[in-house]
Parts: sequence; C-alpha cells; structure tokens
Amino acid sequence: MKYIFPEGFWWGAAVSALQVEGASDKRGETTWDRWFKLEPNRFFDGVGPKVTSDFYNRYEEDIELMKELNFNSFRTSISWARLFPKGFGEINQEGVDFYNNLIDKLIENNIEPVIALFHFDMPMAMMDLGGFESREVVNYYEEYAKICFELFGDRVKHWVTHNEPIVPVEGGYLYNFHYPDVVDCKRGIQVAYNTAISSAKVVNLYKEMRAEGKVREDGRIGIVLSLTPSYPRSNNSADLKAARIADLFFNKSFLDPCVKGAYPEELVSILADRNMLPVVEEGDKNLLKEGVVEFLGFNYYFPRRVKVRENAVNAKAPFLPEHLFEYYDMPGKRMNRYRGWEIYAKGTFDTLINIKDNYGNLPIFISENGMGVEDEARFRNKKGYIDDDYRINFVKEHLKWLHKAIEEGCNVNGYHMWTLMDNWSWMNAYKNRYGFIEVDLEDDLKRTMKKSGYWFKEVAQNNGFND
Ligand code: NOJ
Repeated sequence: MKYIFPEGFWWGAAVSALQVEGASDKRGETTWDRWFKLEPNRFFDGVGPKVTSDFYNRYEEDIELMKELNFNSFRTSISWARLFPKGFGEINQEGVDFYNNLIDKLIENNIEPVIALFHFDMPMAMMDLGGFESREVVNYYEEYAKICFELFGDRVKHWVTHNEPIVPVEGGYLYNFHYPDVVDCKRGIQVAYNTAISSAKVVNLYKEMRAEGKVREDGRIGIVLSLTPSYPRSNNSADLKAARIADLFFNKSFLDPCVKGAYPEELVSILADRNMLPVVEEGDKNLLKEGVVEFLGFNYYFPRRVKVRENAVNAKAPFLPEHLFEYYDMPGKRMNRYRGWEIYAKGTFDTLINIKDNYGNLPIFISENGMGVEDEARFRNKKGYIDDDYRINFVKEHLKWLHKAIEEGCNVNGYHMWTLMDNWSWMNAYKNRYGFIEVDLEDDLKRTMKKSGYWFKEVAQNNGFND
C-alpha cells in the first residue's frame, strides 16, 4: 500500500541545545553542569554535557547531512545560558552570532527552523533563585524570550515555548532524574503551574509583538508536549478512573491550560483535597485563557498501562501521583528489545484523534518519536554502517498510524524523529542511541549515516513510502 502525506508535510528531526552543542565553556553554567560536577557517578559512564556532539562547531557539516536526508524542517532549542550566562543582564554576543548563523544556514538550505526557548537547560543562576518554582524566574524567562523574538523573530516562523514541560517536574520533583533531585509533589505542582504561566506569558508577548509588526506576520507560537495515552486494564469503573487520573496528571496538566486556557476541574479538586494547590497570582486565569498556543508538537514514545491501586501505599512515603493508581504489566505487551519502553504505535493515532475531537483539531505535528538502543555499535555491518532495521520498522509503523489519523481528519503537518544524530541524554549520556546518524565517541565524533537514515531520505523525498 502507498502512504503518501499531504503536500508541504514536514520531514525532519529534533535535537536540543544542551544535548548537542557542546562548547560548554562558551555558555553559562546550567543545572546539568552543576549536577555533573557534584555527582558525576550518577551519569552513565561518568560523561557530562561538556562536549556532547560538538554541534556548536560542526553545525555546517550537520546541515549538509540534514540536506542529504532531504529534511525540510528541523527543531533545536536556544540555550538560555548561552545567550545570558547569568539568565539575564549582559548578552553573550558570540552566542547570538552562533544562533544567527545557524538559523541563516538552515533557511539557506530550505530547512525550516523550529526553535524552542526552553529544553530542560535551566541556567544555574536561575535555579539558584528557585527555577520555575519562582515567579521571578518566570519574569526573567519572559525577558529572555522577548530578546529571542527581537533577535531571530524576523526569520524564525515556528517558536516553541517549552519542550515537554512535564519532564522537569517529574525528573526534578518526583522521580529523581533532573536537578534539584527532590521528591516533593507540592513543589512540583508549583513548578508545573508556573511553567504553564510562563508559556502563556510568552505566547501573549509573541502575539503582541506580531500585532505590532516586530516579528514575522506569518510566525506562529506553540508548545511541545510529551503525551502518554493512558489505557485502563479493564472497563470497570475503578480502572477507568485510575487511567483518567494518570491522564490528568501527566497529559492534561499541560494540555488543558496550554490549549484550552484552563485546568480540568477534576485535577483541581484532586489537588485541593490534598492541600496541594499551587500559589496563584491575580490575573493568572485570564493570562492562561489568552495565552493559548497556536500549534502543538507531540512527542510520542510509549503509553501508560493503568489499573486501580491494589497495593497499599506506605503511609509515610511522600505523595506521588501513583498513589492514586497503579501501573500494571499488560500481558503480551511489546517491548523495545534494546531499551525498556513499550512500543505501541497506535498510541499516536489515539492521541491525535483525542486532539481532533477534544482540543479543537489544533494544528499538530509529531515533534519527537524514536527508538533508543543500547550498545548499538554491535549492529555495524560489513560496509561500516549501523544496520538498524528495527528503527526503520518502528518509524514505518508509527507513520502508518499517522497516515490513518490524517485520513480521518486530524490536522497533522509533520513528523520529526528523535533524533538527527546520536546525542547526550539526561543522565544516560550516550547510553541509548537514537540518531539517524551515528556519532563515534572513539573516533573524533565522526558522523556516519545509519541504514535508517538512508531509508528516511527516500521517504522524505517521496513524501511517503510504499509497504
Ligand atoms: C524527550 C526529550 O525531549 C529529549 O530531550 C530526550 O533526549 C528524548 N525524549 C529521548 O528520551
């Protein structure tokens, strides 16, 4: 069967500043640099975010590779700490030059830049003020965004306020995989709330600047969310409720304020019952209402399998959302053989239909999807490149569901893979490889296209594939 996508469909990949740029001596300290300094052993192989893939110095070579892959779009982020080493105040002109050159080079090569303002890399000076737990930092973030719009808004058409804002909340305040590495749900909720407020402020600012002709007239502002569809174990009401609660905490907590401009009442009442409502300021409600995004990026990796809580929770344990439901091991679920995540491609379709039916069919694109593989060098073939048929099959399967969603009227305009080239992951460093292009850590970060890259290049050129 032929799977052909709508004209102008985006084919590309995403990266993020901290994960690829390197040149850490030319930017301010981030929470990741500090954390690595404090606890290097928590990072896979003791590798920190110092050099990563050296994109800062090799971006021209990497854009050549994007061209070879027939990309027509590409997402990266601006490093707040590169532009403002202290988070505000004096600007680092070298950083401005870098992003100017990068953006120009992408456009020159007909690759549409999609630029995120924040992708997990909080400047340490801002974290010292409390990170997004503090409204002062929300204001600094807005100032930083304003400068970005002024500097690059004449060329960049697609802006993203935050990448996966739920993740720094989960990592930093619930499950110990981001700095500040605490377990405190109430604080996490404040961070989540303030992050949604920061997004709304920046969306409003962008809309104002556009109305005043200070950025491109055709520019758009959105957000990238990781959405994890929650499937109940059964249709009994207790399981259904459990899945709904997981959905409230992990999806609707950002989807609703960012797209509908208000929080779901059920979430508010669950939090109120536990005395966990965040501190709000006057005018916030209106701010959220007006600051709704104009497009959505959807990062998809895996679903959640949920049932009613059957095992008692240790009464002394700090509260976690999982105290209100439980995950279960669905018999027969398909796991990624090379990393412990479930593969369930239909999750893309179900989520897209949900956005169509319940979120006004907002324009959406798959902003990340991909397959992490440990120890991938073992799949190198005789010709010297990595034979990753598993990745080709993974992408194909997801694209088929995407195609079906489009046929059913979903407003989907692109597919970005995570990721262009192997890069540094949060704590996991180079453990799980995701790229279309291998980066050889043993050989001066040499780039080599994987089989999936050769395959994707054809898909992008033909705007689809046959299968
Ligand atoms: C989502 C994040 O946006 C990205 O930074 C991360 O490396 C990938 N998922 C893979 O886990």
